[in-house]
Amino acid sequence: MTKAAAIACAIGAMQSACASAKPAVPLSDEAVRARADALIAQMTPEEKAAQLVTYFAFAIPGQEKLPDTRAAAGAGSFLFVTDPKETNHLQHVAMEQSRLKIPLLFGFDVIHGLSTIFPVPIGQAASWDMAMIEKDQSIAAAEARAVGIHWAFAPMVDIARDPRWGRMVEGAGEDPYLGSAVAAAQVRGFQGPRIGAPGHIIAGPKHFAGYGAALGGRDYDESNISDNELWNVYLPPFKAAVDAGAGNIMSAYMGLNGIPASGNHWLLTDVLRKTWGFKGWVVTDAEAVNSLKTHGYADSARQAGVRSLNAGVDMEMAFASAAFGNLPTALAAGDVTKNRIDQAVRRVLEAKIRMGLFENPYVDEAKAAKILRSPENLTAARIAAERSAVLLRNEGGLLPLDRVGVKSIAVIGGLADSPIDSNGPWVFAPNSPSTQTILDGIRSKLGASVTIRYAPGVKIPKRFNPTIADTMNGIVKRPEPADDTSGIAEAVSAAQQSDVAVVVVGEPQNMSGEMASRSTLDLPGRQQELLDAVVATGKPVIVLLLNGRPLDLKDTKAKAILDLWYPGSRGGDAAANLLFGDAVPGGKLPFTWPRDVGQVPLIYAHLTSHDPANAEKRYSNESNAPRYPFGYGLSYSTFEYANLKVDRPRIAPGGSVTVSVDLKNVGARTADEVAELYIHQRTGTAARPVRELKGFQRVTLKPGETRTLQFHLGPDELRYWNAASHDWVIDASIFDVAVGGDSTARFGASFTVGGQ
Ligand code: GLC
Repeated sequence: MTKAAAIACAIGAMQSACASAKPAVPLSDEAVRARADALIAQMTPEEKAAQLVTYFAFAIPGQEKLPDTRAAAGAGSFLFVTDPKETNHLQHVAMEQSRLKIPLLFGFDVIHGLSTIFPVPIGQAASWDMAMIEKDQSIAAAEARAVGIHWAFAPMVDIARDPRWGRMVEGAGEDPYLGSAVAAAQVRGFQGPRIGAPGHIIAGPKHFAGYGAALGGRDYDESNISDNELWNVYLPPFKAAVDAGAGNIMSAYMGLNGIPASGNHWLLTDVLRKTWGFKGWVVTDAEAVNSLKTHGYADSARQAGVRSLNAGVDMEMAFASAAFGNLPTALAAGDVTKNRIDQAVRRVLEAKIRMGLFENPYVDEAKAAKILRSPENLTAARIAAERSAVLLRNEGGLLPLDRVGVKSIAVIGGLADSPIDSNGPWVFAPNSPSTQTILDGIRSKLGASVTIRYAPGVKIPKRFNPTIADTMNGIVKRPEPADDTSGIAEAVSAAQQSDVAVVVVGEPQNMSGEMASRSTLDLPGRQQELLDAVVATGKPVIVLLLNGRPLDLKDTKAKAILDLWYPGSRGGDAAANLLFGDAVPGGKLPFTWPRDVGQVPLIYAHLTSHDPANAEKRYSNESNAPRYPFGYGLSYSTFEYANLKVDRPRIAPGGSVTVSVDLKNVGARTADEVAELYIHQRTGTAARPVRELKGFQRVTLKPGETRTLQFHLGPDELRYWNAASHDWVIDASIFDVAVGGDSTARFGASFTVGGQ
């Protein structure tokens, strides 16, 4: 179809002539807009308001047909539909029964896979492998698109510096530089080269903005963030996602500096639109328009709808009654303008047009079944789990285990045999059949060659997690107690009879994620006693962690600790390969790991004080040094850094330097190392952190191999937002440079910005 014909088609009515057209080339922005405006001109205020809502399509008892009714009335979108039969059914209702036959947009929490489950995002971030992250999210997108999902409520790009906050698991940790790289990689993976690319879906970075700074780490609590931290820490990953072309943004629940994020004009219009030029549409988090009433920021659903739309929200995510249902009366009363409503509708329609939904609203159900959990997708999941793992301790080189020497293994801990916990949070039964467990993986790798004794030890407590149906039906269930320690004896006996004990501990998946903040980092239930009892046998103990945040293992004396995060569909194979050296851990921590919760928040990029000599003695009762530093991770090999250089001693503000370093694998195994570049600005028009990550490269080196790595430092890396001048600045200063395997890397070179 020629471009002229596409535009002519776009301007004409949305009749069959267009519906059968399959634009061979993506429509131009002008044609997309013209096509949207041609529809808007036909829409009533009620139809416009209906397009601005995405409804949960939960099967509410007694209201099973509600989604059909809404689709027939012109609803814009649904979420939580993952069955291609259902997406096709609702799409037929919309395309055949609604007046204007506008296709539905289906959104879902495709956080770390749809049916093939990858490690949780904090684990993928720990890989520091952006190509892998992009690939994994493109696989997730392909599976989602195959079942009729068009839009992911992801990536979650909230910087998290308080591990009491359960949602640390969903993001990329504490650092804005790493977080920005991960955000952009995920957007590229979800969307591909453009919105509407085949097998790709729209990315919806969330939760805009500052949700990770919840007071006390308590989920949903207020965030009070200084300008300095907003612009230098919490906003950069969102900016990176917008710059990567994200088509949607999800606004957050909580109050940001006193103004609820989903009613915050400064955030949603001044920053997102006027400063960053975001062109997509903004959806709120679930019920976050109606909850403006709960915040005391609106006195009615009608005022909530008006204030959020006027602040910059385009679409409401709603369970039951949508506040945006009041927009026609608000329009008639002059509380919202036709232009503002049309602008929001245009943004939603343009997304649907770009996704080609008018031409191709349905999916091939048979084809979907072949794509979900394909062998190559599952292989990618295993590789991701191997590359995300972080080796925290390996005394005496206990790992990798010797295939010949080890004749018997005790596998201990209920999490070792729990598919749902291997998957981690944000995985829903319908789209992910049971997953291989850690125990499955060890068993399938070793077969009969090694005696494997499994003992769960203690019950894994579950956070009380009422389903919506329970809540709506007034059913109050309490989890069974997990104080029973009678199984520890069996676990101890299994360890005593074995050459080595693998103890799998951590948090059950529903103690991580949304509504899963904890005031402690201790192992839930009686797992610590189990671990300590097994260590007390004197047998070599390897701890495998299933977690989404740092945990306090009470200074365990286990000889090895390997963090698997929630490793996903093939975490068992990955664990077995890592234990026996068929995979080599190369991950690094995306956060600072505190010794205990009393130190929280504890970050590496802190400012110095007037007393730097006592930097680690800020508490009278204990050191404030972390258990493990940001960027830390061991390997089965060892690496050396040498010849750190900067290619010029001085640059003008706005100039760039190249940093180089020689990295050598001085061990006996081919292995990966993440080389991390840090800078320290010595002086300036603001106090600057003692160090900041400004570059990283994950490289694979053979034994004895040396590679010279180069890093670029230019304006993007050297500027920061200055709280005095309220603008981005590059100060004249000496900058120290370090490259190493974690955030304790020693500064060994420097350059000067400005001066003579
Ligand atoms: C939840 C979460 C958000 C998610 C949305 C839809 O409350 O805050 O991350 O995308 O609702 O499930």
